[in-house]
Amino acid sequence: MHKITMLGTGLIGMFYTMTLHSGRSRDRVQVAYSRNPERAEKFAKEWGIPRWTTTLAEAINDPETDVVVVGLPNNLHEEAITLAAKAGKAILCTKPLARSGPEALRILEAVERAGVFHGYLEDLVYTPKTLKALQAVRNGALGKVLWARSRETHPGPHSDWFWDKSQSGGGAIIDMGCHCIEIARSFIGKDVRPVEVMCWADTQVHPIEAEDSAVGLVKYANGAVGQFEVSWTFRGGMDLRDEVSGTEGTIWLNHWLRTGFDLFTSVGEKGYVSEKSEGNTGWLFPVGDEVGSLGYTPMMADMLDALDAGKKPMEDFYDGYVVNAIMDAAYRSVESKKWEPVQLEVWRGSHDTEHGIGMTDYDEQHFLIKEEKMPDGSTKLILKEKSGGKIVQKVLPGA
Ligand SMILES: NC(=O)c1ccc[n+]([C@@H]2O[C@H](COP(=O)([O-])OP(=O)(O)OC[C@H]3O[C@@H](n4cnc5c(N)ncnc54)[C@H](O)[C@@H]3O)[C@@H](O)[C@H]2O)c1
Repeated sequence: MHKITMLGTGLIGMFYTMTLHSGRSRDRVQVAYSRNPERAEKFAKEWGIPRWTTTLAEAINDPETDVVVVGLPNNLHEEAITLAAKAGKAILCTKPLARSGPEALRILEAVERAGVFHGYLEDLVYTPKTLKALQAVRNGALGKVLWARSRETHPGPHSDWFWDKSQSGGGAIIDMGCHCIEIARSFIGKDVRPVEVMCWADTQVHPIEAEDSAVGLVKYANGAVGQFEVSWTFRGGMDLRDEVSGTEGTIWLNHWLRTGFDLFTSVGEKGYVSEKSEGNTGWLFPVGDEVGSLGYTPMMADMLDALDAGKKPMEDFYDGYVVNAIMDAAYRSVESKKWEPVQLEVWRGSHDTEHGIGMTDYDEQHFLIKEEKMPDGSTKLILKEKSGGKIVQKVLPGA
């Protein structure tokens, strides 16, 4: 059983507490921190939390808790983690780890210096669908992953600080690009080095300094490409979709809209439908188990099981650091309009740059490029001559 300090009583503090108190149910939040006493007290009462405080250090140094969960705005992650590392506590931090690669690296160094357990709460790589898809990819079902596309778009976040670049560190890229980048990275292989990024971003709708939309490509050392699409301008709820293409297969994942639960109501559903739902009449797409579908349940179980077993969780602060470094390159590319290198001072994965696409022999003289069954029953072969490289076709008549 773990006794937990929850820093932040906003949306994510609520989701995390709900998960911790229901999932393994042997772990309990013992202290809640919020800067606002009314909110802290209300939150503690709602979730059966014995103590609350408006002092960050008091929450972190509580003598009874052994785990600190950081669910605060992005600009407060470093301060909270530094204090928690000094207190020798296990630390779980929400996404993004930091507002930039250098800030993320300082955070990583602080926890490694202190020798404390650290887990990066990137829930979207833990959704039940994603875990199963990742297993299929690891089992070789897709062959070599060539392209992983991840999209998160909705009408914009729910609190003021997200929209203020000085507190959040950026707009839709920092807020949601971090999810999409880590999803693509997980499918391509976390051992494969991200090399460079090309990104478009703009402020299309909202009167803010940060970007409210972006599309980026992340090139990996093995030739694979990760694609992220993020926006705070999308209408119609929250669109969370992933696509993975490999040499031998394809995966399409839809996590939030039209996932098999469609409800029509002319009078209104009279309650909460699902995160970022835009209305409560007409066709609605509720989500049965929201914390499960978003990955919070398997994520917290992995974190606390890893802590119990003295192992690393699937996602730790090193992953958060790599994601921040990729986002930094994306922001540089938006400015330069060029491919920008991913600057990773610390790289712990493979140094292999092999693209690894093999030539398939057709016969002594040819490589096989493609084979297709035609409407007349014949089979068409596209071949490449081994000497000279000419591309030719051959038709095999149908039976
Ligand atoms: N899927 C996810 O993993 C996910 C989803 C939402 C948010 N988040 C992350 O969680 C963190 C918090 O986001 P949220 O949605 O809970 O935000 P929120 O605005 O709902 O809650 C923020 C909490 O921090 C407190 N806070 C705000 N400003 C503060 C300040 N200056 N000093 C001290 N406390 C302050 C608020 O009182 C509140 O308790 C962010 O890093 C965000 O990126 C992650």
